[in-house]
Amino acid sequence: MKNEITNTNLKPSKEDTIISARNLNVYYGNFRAVKDVNLSVKKNKVLSLIGPSGCGKSTLLRCFNRMNDLVLSASVEGEVVYNGIDLYSSGVDATEIRSSIGMVFQKPNPFPKSIYDNVAFGLRINGYQGDIEEAVEKSLKQAALWDEVKDRLKDSGLTLSGGQQQRLCIARALAIEPDIVLMDEPCSALDPIATLAIEELIRELISKYTIIIVTHNMQQAARVSDETAFLMVGDDRAGYLVETGDTQQIFTNPTEERTEAYITGRFS
Ligand SMILES: Nc1ncnc2c1ncn2[C@@H]1O[C@H](COP(=O)(O)OP(=O)(O)O)[C@@H](O)[C@H]1O
Ligand SMILES: [Mg+2]
Repeated sequence: MKNEITNTNLKPSKEDTIISARNLNVYYGNFRAVKDVNLSVKKNKVLSLIGPSGCGKSTLLRCFNRMNDLVLSASVEGEVVYNGIDLYSSGVDATEIRSSIGMVFQKPNPFPKSIYDNVAFGLRINGYQGDIEEAVEKSLKQAALWDEVKDRLKDSGLTLSGGQQQRLCIARALAIEPDIVLMDEPCSALDPIATLAIEELIRELISKYTIIIVTHNMQQAARVSDETAFLMVGDDRAGYLVETGDTQQIFTNPTEERTEAYITGRFS
């Protein structure tokens, strides 16, 4: 599953779709939380998922690396196609998927381990053969945290500020060199300065990664994402995709009246 591209000439062009949901439905028991979603995500872009609380943003996001497998009542119908493979087809190993498609959560959740060990963790469990020290440094640099922690790598990750902890979690996700990083409201527990730092980081990361971010902050979606998908809750309480498009277009000239109503704050 890991995307090993050795010949850079073979790299798909930047406009290429890297992952797509096809006719995706997600249920918790009998309750359908996500209804008939079709959505393509472009490589080396940021896609934001926006919409009112409960419209299925987190549920949809978790489908992209089979994180819903961990919810006992959850079941998924439809396909999530990544590198030409349906992640939900039989024989696909969810653990392997998660080494290509990483995740950063709402609340920073460093392990109660040293800063160094937090980043090295994924490398070790994946049996990384290279120089772990080098990889840890590289990931911390990519997450724009290195300068702040290079002299205290042995300190617990829990001694960092909230914003630093979230960058540590991003470094941990990047260490195993994923293709895609999923972020579920990664700034909602952070102050405005830490939020800006993470937003800047996201823009830097897309030269190497593809990012799908859930945010309830419309300004954030407008600032960080190239494309935006707007979801809503239907009368049957199922979340559905209203429209998706270029972020600029969604925020200035949406196709759907419902999108306009949401982004102008007529409902939340
Ligand atoms: N583990 C769960 N079990 C049952 N229902 C859930 C679970 N997680 C989410 N839901 C329900 O699914 C719907 C979508 O939730 P969620 O994806 O968390 O929405 P959002 O992230 O947009 O706020 C909501 O109605 C929520 O109550
Ligand atoms: Mg959510």
